[in-house]
Amino acid sequence: MEKTASQQPNDLKPHFYVRDVPVYGDAILAPMAGYSDVPYRALCRAYGSAMHYTEFVPVESLLGRKIHPRFGQRLDKKPDEKPMVFQIFGNNAEMILEAALRIEALGPDIIDINMGCSTKKVSGRGAGVGMMPQPDLVEQTFNLLSTHLTVPVTGKIRLGWDESYKNYREIAKIMEDNGASLISMHGRTKQQKYGGQADWDAIADLRATVSVPVIGNGDVQTPEDIDRMKAHTGCDAVMIGRAAIGNPWIFARMARDTISFEAKLTAVRIHVREMANYYPAPFGITQFRKHLKRYVDKAPHVEEYLPSLLQVETLEEFLDILDAWETAVQPQFALDPTP
Ligand SMILES: Cc1cc2nc3c(=O)[nH]c(=O)nc-3n(C[C@H](O)[C@H](O)[C@H](O)COP(=O)(O)O)c2cc1C
Repeated sequence: MEKTASQQPNDLKPHFYVRDVPVYGDAILAPMAGYSDVPYRALCRAYGSAMHYTEFVPVESLLGRKIHPRFGQRLDKKPDEKPMVFQIFGNNAEMILEAALRIEALGPDIIDINMGCSTKKVSGRGAGVGMMPQPDLVEQTFNLLSTHLTVPVTGKIRLGWDESYKNYREIAKIMEDNGASLISMHGRTKQQKYGGQADWDAIADLRATVSVPVIGNGDVQTPEDIDRMKAHTGCDAVMIGRAAIGNPWIFARMARDTISFEAKLTAVRIHVREMANYYPAPFGITQFRKHLKRYVDKAPHVEEYLPSLLQVETLEEFLDILDAWETAVQPQFALDPTP
């Protein structure tokens, strides 16, 4: 594999610290439930993603006698994944603390509170972005966590609830005053969900409001956008979500349309093997389907090969079809009979 961003000599100096935790790099895979699992994070790390978050985990699933297995798996990590951020969400400060203390024992470098999830199920009960209209809850949560945890505590927020209630400045100050060591912000309101455009001016404003590191997030699509967002906002790092699906190259600042078909298939093979090894069969292969569609979007002969790749359930069948596809696309060199 080519030299990755995190191995460049100028990356020997940390780009920034989360309290005392160094971060080597400025492009970070966003937490994405259903996508940013151990296998995909391994690939993004290889291309230079500088810090990793788990998919978010509800605190309720961490408080029983035994951690709920479905969510427990989300707290899995590779030994070399550093810094590793465990992300949780809840609507009760004491329960958040109890869950955080429990997972701290599993060895994260940082614990992050999700204050950005906009789905009704989460925000409607005052968790995720539903915390933002509750400054007292934010204060109590960060106060408790920063007092009782050893690892740094961070939070991921949005602009606020809606156009008329953008209180990110107030919430960020409360977080900082109560011990948060980093704030990441997706530049949209809860009401916007993923529509409209992320407000990078607001990220610049947040950067000017707090002195802890800030990670900007929202609508970074290309390697140029990483530098554009940094220049526009002054943020310490950029978090990339949707544009990183099927596109780990963005972390090495390589544009998706410069990646050859063969290189894409190589990444697909590595990723699908990681999935098949990591999950019980056939889940690894079936779960890979949504990634695959994004890797091979617009690839030659895609209509011919993708449908069967989306049906198979074993790694062997999957790899056979992939080989056939690669052979079909390879240039056919015929010997020229003329002298
Ligand atoms: C499928 C999906 C799952 C997500 N899951 C999480 C999550 O678990 N935790 C979180 O903080 N944000 C989650 N997000 C939000 C992203 O981290 C990010 O803030 C958002 O996608 C905006 O960034 P982007 O424009 O680069 O995609 C999710 C987004 C998507 C699309």
